[in-house]
Amino acid sequence: MRIAMIGAGYVGLVSGACFAEFGTEVCVVDTDAAKVEALLAGRMPIYEPGLDKLVTENVADGRLSFTTDVAEAMRGAEAVFLAVGTPSRRGDGHADLTYVFAAAEGAAKAAEKPFVLVTKSTVPVGTGKRIKEIVARVRPDLEIAVASNPEFLREGSAIPDFMRPDRVVIGAETDRAFEVLRRLYRPLYLIETPIVQTGIETAELIKYAANAFLATKITFINEMADLCEVVGADVHDVARGMGLDGRIGRKFLHAGPGYGGSCFPKDTLALARTAQDAGKPVRLVETTIQVNDQRKAAMADRIVAAMGGDVKGKTVAVLGLTFKPETDDMRDSPSLDIMPRLAEAGAVLRAYDPQPSHARQMMPPGVHFAGSALEAAEGADAVVLLTEWNEFRALSPDRLRKTMRGDVALDLRNAWDPQAFREAGFRYSSIGRP
Ligand code: NAD
Ligand code: UGA
Repeated sequence: MRIAMIGAGYVGLVSGACFAEFGTEVCVVDTDAAKVEALLAGRMPIYEPGLDKLVTENVADGRLSFTTDVAEAMRGAEAVFLAVGTPSRRGDGHADLTYVFAAAEGAAKAAEKPFVLVTKSTVPVGTGKRIKEIVARVRPDLEIAVASNPEFLREGSAIPDFMRPDRVVIGAETDRAFEVLRRLYRPLYLIETPIVQTGIETAELIKYAANAFLATKITFINEMADLCEVVGADVHDVARGMGLDGRIGRKFLHAGPGYGGSCFPKDTLALARTAQDAGKPVRLVETTIQVNDQRKAAMADRIVAAMGGDVKGKTVAVLGLTFKPETDDMRDSPSLDIMPRLAEAGAVLRAYDPQPSHARQMMPPGVHFAGSALEAAEGADAVVLLTEWNEFRALSPDRLRKTMRGDVALDLRNAWDPQAFREAGFRYSSIGRP
């Protein structure tokens, strides 16, 4: 079987490489010539653990290829996946579907034979219907079945998430679309992955409902953490005590600086807008968005307060800038709220991130990028753990303390051992713990 993947981003590249690993012939197409050039030269345009190896092996085995030419990618393809971006539309928060519609139209125009057009991008309810209208207008001569196959992978663990998902959701209207997608996912049938077969609208909504629920769950525990601080409780134990209830579940109950990333912020907003337009506002999701936005902004105040109320001329070492560990993605990272606020308050900023390629261009001017956590902490008055990369968990509090001038440690991910930090002479604080 041969497929085309339109978009070589965090989802398209990973999905394309994983489908190739399943034994499918995959051609990934992207309009970004620099991205395709890098891939053709064997360089990964993004950081995702294991991706380099997976891509290299499947290219060598002749199952995975890259191009900027959609007609070339479409040649012989039974299914064509749309994995292009759906960012927030400037001004109103609706999902911007420009890339999706352009890619759908381009694929239909270039097609030589019937195919199944599958949307993997996260798109609002009703988008499948609009795609159907576009392809029917552009190619009335060709039978193009439209389907929805939302993706649930997380950055940083994208390959295992794709290879061993909790479920696969397939929304379609024709037997042919279901049959082609079932064949494609056959390796997952063999490991008994639940497959949810449904209509296109339902599949589209499942994706937003899942992301909005997870974002709400995180926001809930963040509010519990704030309450813990006032009443003398420990959010870590609250989360464990709650999460062991099978109906609640332990995952996504880690308190922190507020969720960020390329999806939760834009997807919660897009869902809220869709629901408002439908006359059925989702108030819980609207509140989640508001509480999370306020939280990210308030984190800078928390750092200033931990440093005695004034950071003017003081040096702050910030560890981790990406929205989560094991990715280079900076989209909607809490660091984008926190760093400019600290800079405005007059702090001297030193930062270290293990994958700083995108962060460098996005930080306020004057931030010193260090080559290691200890170098960032040199002479600092305070150290802030912002993203919980594993290498920060292993830092020796004694060595950190000796490198620094001051004694403030603020752990916004509850990744460090409070006792060890206090014994090393730190004035240590974290989120929702005594
Ligand atoms: P991305 O920005 O990393 O990649 C999108 C790619 O599409 C870019 O390389 C862009 O150049 C390319 N592109 C745009 N228009 C094109 C066209 N007409 N033809 C060919 N290529 C084109 O985006 P992403 O993070 O991979 O997200 C893609 C979609 O998947 C979004 O809808 C997102 O919500 C969804 N999603 C993302 C994740 C994630 O972890 N990032 C997880 C699940 C779902
Ligand atoms: C998220 C979902 O988990 C994926 O299922 C989904 O496919 C994806 O969005 C998407 O639609 O793009 P991702 O954003 O890559 O994946 O990463 P997550 O692990 O979900 O983290 C998102 C944010 O929530 C991060 O800022 C993270 O630090 C934060 N988070 C997560 C918490 O603060 N606490 C938690 O317990 C979990």
